[in-house]
Amino acid sequence: MADARRKAIDSGTANPRVVLVPTMGALHDGHLALVDRAAELGDIVVVSIFVNPLQFGPKEDLTSYPRTLDDDVARLAERGVKLVFAPTAAEMYPDGQTSVTVSAGDIGTRYEGRTRPGHFDGVLTVVAKLFHIIDPDAAVFGEKDGQQLFLVKRMASDLSFAVEVHGVETVRAEDGLALSSRNVYLDDVERRSARVLSRALEAAASAADRGVDAVIAAAQSVIMGEPRVQLDYLAVVDPATFLPVSGNHHGTAITLIAARVGTTRLIDNSRFFIN
Ligand code: PAF
Repeated sequence: MADARRKAIDSGTANPRVVLVPTMGALHDGHLALVDRAAELGDIVVVSIFVNPLQFGPKEDLTSYPRTLDDDVARLAERGVKLVFAPTAAEMYPDGQTSVTVSAGDIGTRYEGRTRPGHFDGVLTVVAKLFHIIDPDAAVFGEKDGQQLFLVKRMASDLSFAVEVHGVETVRAEDGLALSSRNVYLDDVERRSARVLSRALEAAASAADRGVDAVIAAAQSVIMGEPRVQLDYLAVVDPATFLPVSGNHHGTAITLIAARVGTTRLIDNSRFFIN
């Protein structure tokens, strides 16, 4: 990074702001929205592309995760990105898996963390390494991975990283499905069924004036209407703590949803307001 900073200074930008967009590649329009936000936030955008083995469980899709590096780099170049950091696993973890890791704490064991034990420790460990390697002033993450965004913000604060962490609104297909690199696993029938996640979130938000139990019931009944979709979890959380809201919660809340469509696990979330 020192080189990039030096070049920016040579080309006239004093104190250039470096903004990192961490990704695992297989880029889609949701990632490009992160890149656009990064370009607004700083002078130098760095996109990292690394499928991080530490955040995959033993039965998860590490080997089959889509890898499209050449296409990704071409899309980023078209978007004006000049710096892509795409290390190998051996470069990131020269001694194999690290023996020292970042713990995501209690929130890291809930929702996604309950189904994917150790996932968030793996995410935070690689993000901490990327923050050290790239040394950005800011970093941009998608709101679709809401729990991840919350935990990265908490890590930056708890471990005193001098990195501003920004979230970017989820980008959706026309029918509401949140864009995700894992959507490529869906066949046509599953792709149609997958719309039920965003429909459940809409139903949840429309039930907001009837309280938290009604919000959960509304989302559940939409999911149950689609037999190809198996609900993993549904939770309504307080954005300030990521703990489940109480029955008399007032203010902003986030509905989190995870479900399996065939063999593909998808997650989504949306914010709404309880009066
Ligand atoms: O959201 C992702 O793509 C990954 O979890 C991240 C943040 C790049 C860490 O590997």
